[in-house]
Amino acid sequence: MKSSVGTRLFGSLGVVVLAVLALAAVAPGTALAQSDVTFTKDVLPILQDSCQTCHREGAIAPMSLMTYEETRPWARAIREKVVTRTMPPWYIDKNIGVQGFKYDRSLNDEQIATVSAWVDAGAPRGNPADAPPEREFADRDQWHIGEPDWIVPIPEPFVVPAEGANWWGDFYADSGLTEDVWISAVETKPSSEGFPVVHHAVTRVQETPDDDEGDFLNEYAQGKNGDIFPPGTGRLVKAGTVIRFNMHYASIGEDRTDRTSVGLTFYPEGETPKHELFSRALAQNYDLDIPPGEDNVRHDSYHKFENNVRLTGFQPHLHNRGKRQCIEAIYPDGQTEMLSCATWDFGWHIVTCSRCCRPAR
Ligand code: HEC
Repeated sequence: MKSSVGTRLFGSLGVVVLAVLALAAVAPGTALAQSDVTFTKDVLPILQDSCQTCHREGAIAPMSLMTYEETRPWARAIREKVVTRTMPPWYIDKNIGVQGFKYDRSLNDEQIATVSAWVDAGAPRGNPADAPPEREFADRDQWHIGEPDWIVPIPEPFVVPAEGANWWGDFYADSGLTEDVWISAVETKPSSEGFPVVHHAVTRVQETPDDDEGDFLNEYAQGKNGDIFPPGTGRLVKAGTVIRFNMHYASIGEDRTDRTSVGLTFYPEGETPKHELFSRALAQNYDLDIPPGEDNVRHDSYHKFENNVRLTGFQPHLHNRGKRQCIEAIYPDGQTEMLSCATWDFGWHIVTCSRCCRPAR
């Protein structure tokens, strides 16, 4: 990317837009011959790849989609969510800016046509022998980034009572690091028992508990796991660092004890990354003025980079009434380039990581 890239973030607040993208989802010619499509042969592989990570016993979705028996009653709802591209959650605009993201779990047009044709054909099971082997999932105690070298938990286990108001607050933990370390991956993770009551856990690195200058480290929220940094990049975590955990807990009808932790993976001894990575909320805009009765207001804000940078990931962020957010680069020669737009949904917090740093044209 060229030097001193400025970015402009557009956040518009309101409620309606969600359905617009949906209409284009299934082109008429792509529907498969209905009679051919079966659960075991065509649909189950799609569920395994794109749905079961959340739709299984004990995960975050309301129902399991592991078997035909579990899936059949949801056939119509599945078609509706898939055709409107609300499931699997993935809100990046497919017609604007950078495409081809790592870990993109959205379905392609052909997969959507397959699911739709299956439902239209009466959701047939098909031949059990066609079914792929059941997908196995690592248990929740496992870290997405692999076993970290260093784990820092919140200071004490925290009990979220069966009934109670939502709880937001901060915990501060001594990292225990006695020397500076470069890290190549980081993950913030609720404990197994705490998992259903942790709505978000945001970690920051600070010099002392009351240091406001600290830096964002990582976030756990629905839809997000760990961050493994691109090869050759890393972050420095200083000796004596205090980790601040900003938590949001919500009761679920039974007492749950949580002990959220953050895990760090170190660079191999003696190695340092070529590039320093940073994660930061850019161009924050706290001064949103929404005239009464308006449902579509645009706000712009800016951030100027003083050095050459490469953007490795983009996480849109708005609150409940947010509708859409875009990130645009303004180059030193005045040229602009829209990098990405997201149709916002407060239910999901997803980082999109680019495979390439420029859009494929
Ligand atoms: C990242 C996690 C995640 C993935 C991946 C995911 N879902 Fe969901 N799904 C959820 C959650 C959580 C809900 C309930 C909240 C909501 O509707 O947003 C849900 C709701 C649904 C519903 C609505 C259920 C109802 O009560 O009406 C359907 C249907 C659905 N998902 C189907 C799918 C299908 C099909 C896929 C894959 C193609 C998929 N989901 C992938 C998490 C996920």
